[in-house]
Amino acid sequence: MTRFLAPGRANLIGEHTDHTDGLVLPVAIDRGVTLEADLGGDRIVLRSADADGEVDVAADGSETPTEGWGRFVAAVAAELAEAGCAPVGMHGELHSDLPQGAGLSSSAALEVVLATALADAAEFDCPPLELAALCRRAERRAVGVPSGIMDQAASILGRADHAVLLDCGTLEYRHVPLPTDHVLLVADSGVRRQLETSGYAARSEELAAALPVLDGRNPSTVGVEELDELLADLPEVPARRLRHVVTENERVRQTEAALREGRLDDLAVLFAAGHASLRDDYQVTIPELDRLVELARDGGATAARMTGGGFGGAIIALVHHDRVDAVEKTIRDGYGTAFPQHPLQIHRCRIADGVRRLDG
Ligand code: GLA
Repeated sequence: MTRFLAPGRANLIGEHTDHTDGLVLPVAIDRGVTLEADLGGDRIVLRSADADGEVDVAADGSETPTEGWGRFVAAVAAELAEAGCAPVGMHGELHSDLPQGAGLSSSAALEVVLATALADAAEFDCPPLELAALCRRAERRAVGVPSGIMDQAASILGRADHAVLLDCGTLEYRHVPLPTDHVLLVADSGVRRQLETSGYAARSEELAAALPVLDGRNPSTVGVEELDELLADLPEVPARRLRHVVTENERVRQTEAALREGRLDDLAVLFAAGHASLRDDYQVTIPELDRLVELARDGGATAARMTGGGFGGAIIALVHHDRVDAVEKTIRDGYGTAFPQHPLQIHRCRIADGVRRLDG
């Protein structure tokens, strides 16, 4: 029996920057997808304790289900085969304590746990960021979304009590220590979205329409002070998308510095500006997420913003541990009044290590 666990992720800041080779600052959380399986045979047969049905696909990835979570399983097998990994069959079960569609990367955790277990079984040596890239390709193969590498990289590179600063262009990364007297609250709005049906691809296309003004430069190398001139002749929508990306990359740099220097007031300002930019320039928040962020701040959170792709999902709040109960209560009371139709869930998360074997 082989057992692996891949965590979900929450992104501290650096939203919608990964698909233009920018900077991100995610964490792995203490919730994820666990795989328990017996290896062997030429089929991957998996049951899920949390999702419908059984998946039964060829271990070489040659079969492609058209719907459901089996698409991710088959896509991982196919990408591993294309990368030169010998096919390995397995019979097993998946358990997840990650809410789906909450912006916590349940699909990336599934891809990472499978790819890690299969590569391990085949003794296929794959460096961490190559495995992340392979899982990213699997996501695209499975559901056609042009997402970046952040989610899979966070699930692999995460470290307890640290965030991962990843440059998605150079693939250089370093771990940034987080304040040990703070808790990460994830408040899930109960509004479900799937990347494949959200406006993710549309936003990427609008952003792509602005990129020619950079003359081939990576947006993360553009200074905020250059923006007025660069955006002057662009239509409004592409200009907003690019302004978000350029300012967001800068906020990631500043957040790293603020964390390293313990400047938590600055963190509050950076998270607030990041959320506002996702609301006004990238336009992926929804009123429920905007309200949750306000409530978290009203309740005394140090810093709060939406996390993930948007159009639903969750916010994160960094909260001093003395204030966690008060922040939770303020969020519950206020959200219940404003949006009684949505099932709010609040998770207190620890910042965890990345994917790992559980059996010795
Ligand atoms: C989703 C994608 C990521 C990233 C975020 C937004 O989670 O899978 O690649 O683009 O949205 O930051």
